[in-house]
Amino acid sequence: MKILITGGAGFIGSHVVRRFVNAYPSYDIYNLDALTYAGNLGNLSDIEKAPNYHFMKGDIADQKFIDHLFDEYVFDKVIHLAAESHVDRSIKDPMSFVKTNVMGTVNLLNGCKNSWGKDYTNKLFYHISTDEVYGSLGEDGLFTEENSYDPRSPYSASKASSDHFVRAYHETYGLPVVITNCSNNYGPNHFPEKLIPLFINNIIKENPLPVYGDGKYTRDWLYVLDHAAAIDTVAHNGKIGETYNIGGFNEWRNIDLVRLLCDLMDEKLSRKRGTSQKLITFIKDRPGHDKRYAIDASKIAGELGWKPSVTFEEGLRLTIDWYLSNPAWLENVTSGNYLEYYKKMYS
Ligand code: NAD
Ligand code: DAU
Repeated sequence: MKILITGGAGFIGSHVVRRFVNAYPSYDIYNLDALTYAGNLGNLSDIEKAPNYHFMKGDIADQKFIDHLFDEYVFDKVIHLAAESHVDRSIKDPMSFVKTNVMGTVNLLNGCKNSWGKDYTNKLFYHISTDEVYGSLGEDGLFTEENSYDPRSPYSASKASSDHFVRAYHETYGLPVVITNCSNNYGPNHFPEKLIPLFINNIIKENPLPVYGDGKYTRDWLYVLDHAAAIDTVAHNGKIGETYNIGGFNEWRNIDLVRLLCDLMDEKLSRKRGTSQKLITFIKDRPGHDKRYAIDASKIAGELGWKPSVTFEEGLRLTIDWYLSNPAWLENVTSGNYLEYYKKMYS
């Protein structure tokens, strides 16, 4: 079994690669990653010498490169995670999201179609997507797989577009595909531009915690290792042509989450309770900020038997412990370009 995992040096991808390399020694795992600012081979240092692990540096938006790759290798499964993933960056530079998320995905679909010919036996193109394609919810209701698409940021529009292409290749060419749409992940190796790792880093350094708007925006949070387990389940048992929503059954308003994070961090850092909450600073809102996401994950739970394994507080404690035990990782990714990014976004 040859499995191509794209974006395997990123946050979620690195947990997926590690899980597959360790759990399936008879599979050959190929990690294709362009190593953008978000990709970090240090995330995989513990498995880099495993005999069934192979790293390939390359850009999925480079059509020639992808065509050549699929001429050379016949992969049995492609698990596609490579993407530009940060909403705030998509507001500043939408085109790089079109290139990687839309064109990159179509390049991979073409690669599979050409290399598999007409024989799709035991083949799979598994596209990892987001709940943001469904748009924003009001006070009530949950996203199900039947919700119509209503993306509202350049990031979610590019992900929605890639989902449409994946379904179109299934309908038009019969390509064996499956899609999952997941809620907000958190956990080790998360780049500190997203809410939880950014705030952990700022609490450690006693910097302000920039909460957008009134902080009453709501997200559903899932521990990243539980997402990796769900991806393993779907890669092996998902039904071709289906979509599965993945979520944590775990909705939090940003401000409540930030307060909990502050209290847990005070405890871990032996600071007086309330110290970190003083760093909370309300700032100008994100344009087009989606009010609420909430996932109905009952289909994957009922049909494939997957459910989250840790509670939110357990997951947050594990996450905080990881960041406090890995200061070199944090230091490495927050030096250089990161400082410029931070100034541009938050000054
Ligand atoms: P990430 O930004 O941490 O990692 C993305 C990885 O893709 C990086 O290693 C980067 O180097 C690589 N990459 C970017 N552009 C590339 C290109 N042109 N060619 C090859 N590699 C490229 O992202 P993440 O948070 O791990 O998200 C992974 C996937 O899961 C994405 O498709 C994202 O849309 C989806 N997703 C993320 C979340 C979340 O909460 N993080 C939730 C649901 C879905
Ligand atoms: O829902 C799944 C999506 O979750 C993924 O598809 C995306 O790749 C991932 O980045 C994430 O998107 P969000 O925009 O929800 O995540 P982010 O961590 O950027 O923001 C979470 C919430 O916190 C959101 O309401 C905005 C708010 N926020 C974020 C940052 C970075 C702040 O209040 N301040 C901040 O500095």
